[in-house]
Amino acid sequence: MNPFIPIVLVICISLSGSESAGLAGKSLIFPTKTNTSFVKLKTPTFSKLSAFTVCFWAASEVVRPYALFSYSTSRSQFELLIWQDINGMFYLYLGDYGAKFSLPKANGLLRHICVTWESQGGVGAAWINGRRSLQKVGGKGQTVKGSGEIILGQTKDRRHGTYDINGCFVGEISDVNMWDHVLNSNQIKMLSQNCLCTGGNIIDWNTIGYTAAGNVKIQDSKRCQF
Ligand SMILES: *[C@@H]1O[C@H](CO)[C@@H](O)[C@H](O)[C@H]1NC(C)=O
Repeated sequence: MNPFIPIVLVICISLSGSESAGLAGKSLIFPTKTNTSFVKLKTPTFSKLSAFTVCFWAASEVVRPYALFSYSTSRSQFELLIWQDINGMFYLYLGDYGAKFSLPKANGLLRHICVTWESQGGVGAAWINGRRSLQKVGGKGQTVKGSGEIILGQTKDRRHGTYDINGCFVGEISDVNMWDHVLNSNQIKMLSQNCLCTGGNIIDWNTIGYTAAGNVKIQDSKRCQF
């Protein structure tokens, strides 16, 4: 057997953007505006969701529109997109449906953000540091399709499917967790007070497989203690 084959194999595996697992106690820091830096989370195994909660900690000093959480599928680049615009308006997109929330603008302080939604009543809400926004109603009967791609740090351009530099995230994000149901206000409050570091049943930050590309720093979040 050619002795070089195993070496070549090892090099190829490590070049193909090898997947790591578990981000417990870690933050992702996106220091610069690029369309090449991102962290792709391993696709969770669900066929469709009729309710969800997505929570994370984030801080950004950038004043322009950007994506905080981007889940795209074969049918929509915006299957589930959490987006912030230049005026600090906050959006939940579920395909063609968008709910808009007027919230305090992001700044350099980490804040705890959750978005909840359920299909039956179409009721959605955003939560900042454990406090709920007013509820918005829409997307009734819709579901979130499985087998998609979760990207942090970037979002895809609707027409071309490439990453759009004008929507990239610059800042720090951590503890991205997702559940297949709407958490209650006590649970969200506990998460926002660091009293609960358990992960979601759809995305569990502590164990999730991920691939990082470009200029992204994975640092100790100095929050949850394990
Ligand atoms: C980055 O943007 C350029 C210019 O729009 C585009 O050609 C390229 O495909 C983008 N890269 C990625 C990884 O999406």
